[in-house]
Amino acid sequence: MRKKAILITGASGEIGQALVKSEAELGEFPILTLDIQPLDEEVRKLVTPIQGDILDKALLSRLISEYEIVTLYHLAALLSTRSEFTPEAAHRVNVEGTLGLLQMAAEQSEWRGEPVKFIFPSSIAAYGLPDLETKTSYARVREWEWNYPRTMYGCNKLYCEQLGIYYSKYYRQLAADRPVMLDFRCVRFPGLISAFTVPSGGTSDYGPEMLHAAAKKVPYACFVREDVRIPFMAMPDAIKALQHLTLAPREALRHQVFNVTSFSLSAEEFRQKVLKHFPEAQIAYQPDLKRQGIVDSWPADLDDSAACREWGWQPDYDVDRSFDEYLVPNIRQRYQG
Ligand SMILES: NC(=O)c1ccc[n+]([C@@H]2O[C@H](COP(=O)([O-])OP(=O)(O)OC[C@H]3O[C@@H](n4cnc5c(N)ncnc54)[C@H](O)[C@@H]3O)[C@@H](O)[C@H]2O)c1
Repeated sequence: MRKKAILITGASGEIGQALVKSEAELGEFPILTLDIQPLDEEVRKLVTPIQGDILDKALLSRLISEYEIVTLYHLAALLSTRSEFTPEAAHRVNVEGTLGLLQMAAEQSEWRGEPVKFIFPSSIAAYGLPDLETKTSYARVREWEWNYPRTMYGCNKLYCEQLGIYYSKYYRQLAADRPVMLDFRCVRFPGLISAFTVPSGGTSDYGPEMLHAAAKKVPYACFVREDVRIPFMAMPDAIKALQHLTLAPREALRHQVFNVTSFSLSAEEFRQKVLKHFPEAQIAYQPDLKRQGIVDSWPADLDDSAACREWGWQPDYDVDRSFDEYLVPNIRQRYQG
């Protein structure tokens, strides 16, 4: 008999580490992780870690010969800035990697006679607004609007959302027997901010970077203009969103791709929040016009009413609670001494 398990790809990353801890607390199923990087010791002891590439087909086959995957959180990806430097590599990891895992989950669903839940974090990078005037007039963007990404990462995310829907609704639609299809669910995250990990390779990183630099007492030069505005969310809410969407009854869901968000801040408003807690912080502006151009194409805010309606989404951390109760105390502690 194969052992039932949850699989988390990209578990060594920012979301992965937080998700592993939270899933381990729930303790419903044993957790397998797959990441090309080794896991932190603290995370490692909670899981069965597999160090490897999501593109390694032989590795995936070995994995499903031993385990029955009940839920797959597919977090492994190359993020937005990194993907612009190596777009073809990004396509391989972000699209071919996702395709391979969808295929694996599709086969597993047939074997089990029950859908594997495939949970996928997409991003505000799936949107692309043409100019600042449009960005200002379409403040809270809905899922189907402005799906014109400007980055390889955004293109990859948008296409993988579609692939996920395909595998859960139309896979083998011409076959004589309708297969048991996987259950694909996706959230489009805003920029995420963790108190315990530092981001790398994303284009919303200026927010968390300001905070971590202030706590470390090192000067920071923000790579976007003062007025650049995007939505953000504290990491505990990101984990909550993934887990609540996973638990939602399938019949309650009319959509498969959902915006989720918490608060929207301009870079200057973010800086002021940091200065309130770290008045000595040295935060200057040194816009990188190309990276800023990417952030300018992302929405200023997201309309997450479908998520609220269909699976009861509600963030626990608004902007003040995020800073006052989660980010600042934990980041202070991290750099103390
Ligand atoms: N952090 C954010 O603000 C944010 C926002 C929106 C969406 N997301 C999405 O959430 C997911 C996780 O993001 P994160 O912030 O934790 O990213 P991260 O860069 O911290 O983690 C990604 C992990 O994927 C692993 N990985 C990359 N290529 C791999 C491969 N070929 N095989 C196996 N592992 C591989 C990396 O080693 C890394 O540990 C990603 O899909 C990302 O696109 C993140």
